[in-house]
Amino acid sequence: MLSYQHGYHAGNHADVLKHVVLGDVLAGMQLKDAPLFALDAFASKGIYDLDTDEALKNREFDSGIGRIWPHRKDAMPAGVRRWLDAIQPLNNDDRCMQLPGSTALLRHWQRPQDRVAACEMHPQEFQALRTTFSSSRGFALHKRDAYEALGALLPPKEKRGLVLLDPSYEEKDEYRRIAKAVSAAYPHFRAGAYLIWYPLLPAGRHKELFREMHKSGIRKIMRVELDGMGAFGKAESPMQMQGSGMLIINPPWHAMQAIRESLGWIKQTLCPAGQSRCDWLVPE
Ligand SMILES: C[S@@+](CC[C@H](N)C(=O)[O-])C[C@H]1O[C@@H](n2cnc3c(N)ncnc32)[C@H](O)[C@@H]1O
Repeated sequence: MLSYQHGYHAGNHADVLKHVVLGDVLAGMQLKDAPLFALDAFASKGIYDLDTDEALKNREFDSGIGRIWPHRKDAMPAGVRRWLDAIQPLNNDDRCMQLPGSTALLRHWQRPQDRVAACEMHPQEFQALRTTFSSSRGFALHKRDAYEALGALLPPKEKRGLVLLDPSYEEKDEYRRIAKAVSAAYPHFRAGAYLIWYPLLPAGRHKELFREMHKSGIRKIMRVELDGMGAFGKAESPMQMQGSGMLIINPPWHAMQAIRESLGWIKQTLCPAGQSRCDWLVPE
């Protein structure tokens, strides 16, 4: 456990989908002025350097940010533009070398009235978070188990907010575990939006997550998926990621159209022959 380091995968197709959708959901919630709480339960290191040995090992960013960076921003949907606007200040125009992860994005998009908390267990990744961000009022880093933090930090005093659940799925049972954790947290924070990221593997392990979510009785679960249909690597091993998806419990109404537009553009740009879907796993 805890051998996973996201720096090897930073900026790949799955990060594009996850970070753009995160921005779309947050922006939908920020249409109201009332304060929000955002919990990044599996944070990793905050900012990824794409010029390191780990990032260059498999150059996964070539399947994601590498294909998007050269595009003109005025032809993009608002969600992709918002994400690039958060990346641009860390880079010069020619190359994208520094990529904000989920915690850095939440920090960037945070308004004065909002609160952000990020949890990370891996000692090195947590140290990197500490080095990147100074804790301040409204922003907290926790070297803490995400599963335990869900019970401890929810419900938030703001009564509104989102929870990003982005585990590394190193263990086969993590699909079930994440669903159980959400089912346990949900009754304490029914108004929250929960975003659960999952990989699409030939082994089809995400179906376990779906089965458990169906069993939970939670309704209004949106499913957003991008399958490269081979564009992100051949399905030679049951563990070769072919695409990824997100379940979004309680997506804000305004975010749903934005997500559809973002997804359509991302598919066209990253994998024109791929398949995308944006539907209800469980309707209202
Ligand atoms: C996929 S990465 C997160 C990437 C990050 N959310 C982003 O988008 O930039 C998953 C992270 O969760 C951490 N992790 C794994 N199990 C954890 C747990 N039980 N509690 C907290 N962190 C955990 C891993 O060390 C890893 O850094």
